[in-house]
Amino acid sequence: MLLGPALVGALVGLTMISFTVIFLNMTSSPHLADLYTSGITWPPFGPKARKYWAGTHVSERVFGLTAVAEPLETTRVSVQAIGKPMLNSTSAVIVETLSLAEPVYPQEVAITVEDTAATASYMLQVFKWGIFPESITISGDTAFGKRFSQCIPWGYLYWNHTVHLPKGLLILEIRVTYSHFEMSFPWKKRSNNSFATYFDPALPREKCTMWAIPSWAQATVAQASAHGCFYGLQPRWSSCGQTRQKNTERFLQFFQGNVSGRLCASTIVPGTSNLSNLVCRTMLPSPAALAINVSEILPQKSKDTQAKFTMPLRMPSGSIDLVGDGSLYQPRFGFTFTLRKRTVAKTFLVATGFAESVVVHGEGLRLTIADCAALAHATVVELTVLSEDLDCHLESLSLENGTKLDIIPTARRVCQIDSMAEMCEHGWKPSSSFALPVPFFREHLLLRTADLQLVGQPTCKSFTNFGEPFDDSEKMAVSLRLNQERSFWAFILGQELHVEPSSESCWRSPELCVIDFHQAWASSLHNESSKVFVTVAAPEDYNISWKRVIQVYQGPDLFREEKALRAEREATTTAHLCVEPSLKVTKECGGALKSSTIQAMFDISIKSDIRSLRFEASFSCSDSFFRQQSVVLEMTLANWL
Ligand SMILES: *[C@@H]1O[C@H](CO)[C@@H](O)[C@H](O)[C@H]1NC(C)=O
Ligand SMILES: *[C@@H]1O[C@H](CO)[C@@H](O)[C@H](O)[C@H]1NC(C)=O
Ligand SMILES: *[C@@H]1O[C@H](CO)[C@@H](O)[C@H](O)[C@H]1NC(C)=O
Ligand SMILES: *[C@@H]1O[C@H](CO)[C@@H](O)[C@H](O)[C@H]1NC(C)=O
Ligand SMILES: *[C@@H]1O[C@H](CO)[C@@H](O)[C@H](O)[C@H]1NC(C)=O
Ligand SMILES: *[C@@H]1O[C@H](CO)[C@@H](O)[C@H](O)[C@H]1NC(C)=O
Ligand SMILES: *[C@@H]1O[C@H](CO)[C@@H](O)[C@H](O)[C@H]1NC(C)=O
Ligand SMILES: *[C@@H]1O[C@H](CO)[C@@H](O)[C@H](O)[C@H]1NC(C)=O
Ligand SMILES: *[C@@H]1O[C@H](CO)[C@@H](O)[C@H](O)[C@H]1NC(C)=O
Repeated sequence: MLLGPALVGALVGLTMISFTVIFLNMTSSPHLADLYTSGITWPPFGPKARKYWAGTHVSERVFGLTAVAEPLETTRVSVQAIGKPMLNSTSAVIVETLSLAEPVYPQEVAITVEDTAATASYMLQVFKWGIFPESITISGDTAFGKRFSQCIPWGYLYWNHTVHLPKGLLILEIRVTYSHFEMSFPWKKRSNNSFATYFDPALPREKCTMWAIPSWAQATVAQASAHGCFYGLQPRWSSCGQTRQKNTERFLQFFQGNVSGRLCASTIVPGTSNLSNLVCRTMLPSPAALAINVSEILPQKSKDTQAKFTMPLRMPSGSIDLVGDGSLYQPRFGFTFTLRKRTVAKTFLVATGFAESVVVHGEGLRLTIADCAALAHATVVELTVLSEDLDCHLESLSLENGTKLDIIPTARRVCQIDSMAEMCEHGWKPSSSFALPVPFFREHLLLRTADLQLVGQPTCKSFTNFGEPFDDSEKMAVSLRLNQERSFWAFILGQELHVEPSSESCWRSPELCVIDFHQAWASSLHNESSKVFVTVAAPEDYNISWKRVIQVYQGPDLFREEKALRAEREATTTAHLCVEPSLKVTKECGGALKSSTIQAMFDISIKSDIRSLRFEASFSCSDSFFRQQSVVLEMTLANWL
């Protein structure tokens, strides 16, 4: 894309540190006598090589270059860096510096050497490289003869910097693995075993920072180019500790770099930020890793320990802090080792679900499923619970009576809810999915008014055999409720009435819910008109049908009596009612809801003090739990006559 074919060859060569690719350009003179850069250069400078790869560490801001020519054989040397004026010199040495903050990537420098007869051209492309910590593996034997081991990606630990350890460890064996990275060819797929370059042409240069990258927690460095944004991504967190050591080792050998390391740890006095008993130890180098065995820094029951690493890389050109107090890869307060238990509430933050094609909306671990459409063809509700802790997941989910739900594979559509779920492109959050048969749910809701409570059993991989990883005073619970709110609307004379279909009467007797509208009635019919229009509206998937309209009054013997009234069903909402703003929600008045209006006249010949009107309509949704839901709108007319 941005690289010429020769450089592509050079880079591939470098990545494999293979020495078979050499660029020959058999001109005799003029030529450069030497070429120095502030970084690392490949291939090594030689009379025949005309194209070079220069590597600059990701922490550097400027890149320096010195070109040297034979004064007697040269008439002019010029250096042209992209976006800078051409530097000319008639002397033998020319020095150029490039600012690496420029949105040019990779930067290119063309060097021309002239004598009286000919010209020779050299090309240098400047790339960023780094060596990043990849993971920490913590292991150790316990007094009971069991071996604990956990590999934690450094990137994950950077954000969630608490390491939970089991009780009874005799020693702490810590191994920090590091890996080499070059910001060169963009990769298409996330790598399991190396840091990889990504390129996003849609991310503009001013936004090209780590925080703008969708998977920012797993990014390393970002670099703007004129065409988009280059960035580095860590190896997949799910393949912790699997980076290819050989590549890193060969890179270090070739450029004569040595990584060393120290671990300093102190005890945190509980409830304060006071640190005490500082212990510092040198780590031992091993291929692409540093290791140490210590027992002094084991946390105690009431005291955590806090650890910081220092990892200098020494190269002939100088020393670079791979991890240190000032580096991007050291969390400010270091890593915490603790014997405290995890908390369910911080580990399981998100649950989600699907019923056929409909997302079961949730807020935390409380899910709401909409009646009708959502349950139209569903036989199961698929529930997924995500864990924020890479080591933990939900092992089972049970009904209150102890029946465990079947475990099912997590659907990829979970990625629409949380793109960090483990099956998503850059995801890592362990996820567990369960099938809740719709009949269980229906049965529960028809019998009770409460939400359906499911009880979960969490577990952590590295704690198998090491006791309960979670604070056992906590219970992991997922609750599921049915949402029928606002499945229908009612209007008298076009004025909206407050409808609360989830009111108790609807739950107790789902076939018949009575909604009382005294207030509305009294005010709407204030002018004593005896004609009333009632409109009901519901979403598209409901069928509405009117049953009857009756007038209820107190008969001569003081008992409640009823009289059916003649009612006319209006085919559509009558046009004059559409002037009421609230009716704009109905299709007939330009909205989306299906509606139906009925008109009735009171029988004013009945002499009674207490009168009310009941309009009975039924709403049916062929696939709802409540197959036929009749709604009775009862209006009491106060001060009539
Ligand atoms: C170097 O020489 C080139 C070509 O002769 C000229 O265009 C350029 O302006 C010169 N640069 C400087 C800094 O004088
Ligand atoms: C773990 O880190 C992620 C960021 O990568 C963060 O969203 C999450 O809240 C952290 N979880 C805990 C338990 O600290
Ligand atoms: C990466 O690891 C995952 C499992 O962790 C595996 O399914 C996938 O095939 C691996 N990819 C490569 C390229 O090895
Ligand atoms: C902890 O620090 C506080 C001030 O931050 C100090 O008053 C206290 O004496 C310290 N305690 C110990 C045990 O060092
Ligand atoms: C730490 O101990 C383990 C097991 O005893 C051993 O294999 C390893 O080499 C030791 N590592 C160091 C750095 O001493
Ligand atoms: C790195 O170690 C090697 C072998 O131990 C040594 O030859 C080389 O000089 C060291 N490099 C630096 C920069 O210290
Ligand atoms: C638990 O409840 C479900 C649904 O109500 C039922 O199918 C199952 O048989 C019950 N299990 C036990 C052990 O009672
Ligand atoms: C009374 O009803 C008539 C028609 O039914 C209407 O034109 C009039 O505005 C109403 N008056 C009041 C005060 O609501
Ligand atoms: C509504 O009624 C029509 C005609 O009777 C019927 O075909 C349709 O299935 C019904 N729809 C629902 C959601 O009940």
